[in-house]
Amino acid sequence: MSAAAAGVFVTGTGTDVGKTVVAAAIARTLAAAGHRVAVFKPAVTGLDEPPADGPISHDMRGFPAHRPLADHELLREAAGSRQSDGGIAPYRYGPAVSPHLAAALAGEEIEPGRLLEAARHAAAGADALVCEGVGGLLVPLAGRYLVRDLAVDLGYPLVVAAAPGLGTINHTLLTLESARAAGLEVASVVLTPWPEEPSEIERSNRETIASLGQIPVQTLPHLALAHPHTWPTLRPMGLFPTR
Ligand SMILES: Nc1ncnc2c1ncn2[C@@H]1O[C@H](COP(=O)(O)OP(=O)(O)OP(=O)(O)O)[C@@H](O)[C@H]1O
Ligand SMILES: [Mg+2]
Repeated sequence: MSAAAAGVFVTGTGTDVGKTVVAAAIARTLAAAGHRVAVFKPAVTGLDEPPADGPISHDMRGFPAHRPLADHELLREAAGSRQSDGGIAPYRYGPAVSPHLAAALAGEEIEPGRLLEAARHAAAGADALVCEGVGGLLVPLAGRYLVRDLAVDLGYPLVVAAAPGLGTINHTLLTLESARAAGLEVASVVLTPWPEEPSEIERSNRETIASLGQIPVQTLPHLALAHPHTWPTLRPMGLFPTR
């Protein structure tokens, strides 16, 4: 099923690789182009944790660049959406653990049907639904139901967020293989944050992933996360053609 006519599912090579930033940049791009954008994240964990200092502590103007917002909050802001917390992320947990464990600690189980219903509800009335996964594709949500199964059930093409540096070729190619094995279409890989002056390794990673993965590779520079109006546009290859 596809909950909205157009949509994208942003996954990543793992946790903390830039999925939220990539999904937010896409949502912001679509919203700025006049689309009504809704956002969706099946489960958010780690709400008890203080906001982590990311790899970047301050942006170029001296503003703190780390993320003061939880994933669903940053996505909502980027999309200019008025969805409630529960409308974006039906399952939200305090501990920073895998979603199936977070649910178990809360004495419940994530229900795939409820996720699909929530995604459908989020997309109702929107032109585009931007979804962010949890961790990587093989993270369990409930029992044997993985993030990858949710991506298949939602039916949207994937965008894979990946780090630019050492180790990313293996992680990215594994993710592409896993996606394609389940019949998922992958629109592009986005390397993030892409440095202003990429090293030889980073430039080589970009080319190697494109050729071995047979995939368009896009890049996203460091964003001042607190200042969405300064963000560059990010349009996944082949998706959301300009009107
Ligand atoms: N282009 C970028 N500009 C600024 N910061 C970035 C960029 N890409 C990644 N980061 C930083 O990298 C860290 C991880 O990013 P993000 O939160 O988007 O990862 P994630 O894959 O969504 O993590 P999670 O698995 O927790 O959902 C954050 O601290 C974020 O600020
Ligand atoms: Mg995230």
